[in-house]
Amino acid sequence: MSSKTKNIVILISGGGSNMAAIVGAAQQQNWQQKFGAGIAAVISNRAEAGGLELAQSLGVATEVLSHKAFDSREAFDAALMKLIDSYQPALVILAGFMRILTPGFVNHYAGRLVNIHPSLLPAFTGLNTHQRAIDAGCLEAGCTVHQVTDELDHGPILAQAAVPVLPGDTAEALSARVLVQEHLLYPQAVHDWLQGQP
Ligand code: GRF
Repeated sequence: MSSKTKNIVILISGGGSNMAAIVGAAQQQNWQQKFGAGIAAVISNRAEAGGLELAQSLGVATEVLSHKAFDSREAFDAALMKLIDSYQPALVILAGFMRILTPGFVNHYAGRLVNIHPSLLPAFTGLNTHQRAIDAGCLEAGCTVHQVTDELDHGPILAQAAVPVLPGDTAEALSARVLVQEHLLYPQAVHDWLQGQP
């Protein structure tokens, strides 16, 4: 890619369905032509992440950097930063990347690091968001795209989508309903972020 391209790096740990939605939008909406932006690489901390094959099938370069090869969070994050920075990214996207990042990492990418979280933040930071929303008797659940700061699942909110919690809902059923919205919301939020860039 030319040095003028706004490189996007996506970090995953699992199935990568949000990653695939973003890559699909980039291809279908021609973000290269529209914004001079392209998905430069998908990086996983787990070699067995299903999203790696999915990314390859979409024609995107993949890398694996296992956190298990490092004896501290700081050492892993330093190596991850080095790998990400080899792509000179304009934007780093966390898409189901299941690692808590160090303040050093987060500050290094301040203003160009985004995440999707499966709740209507500021409610239900952390894990098991869907079961917790059901247990709390919420009538609505949803997902949030936000800028990443060094406080977990905090940071300025860029976009949200809500779904109803239905009578008798299970965490699985609610999760599937929210995921449909994640696949619409995340590409749109990245699109809007790119549109706001000089
Ligand atoms: C999504 O629900 C996302 O909100 C959460 O982890 C899940 C990742 O799914 N952080 P996928 O890997 O994008 O399919």
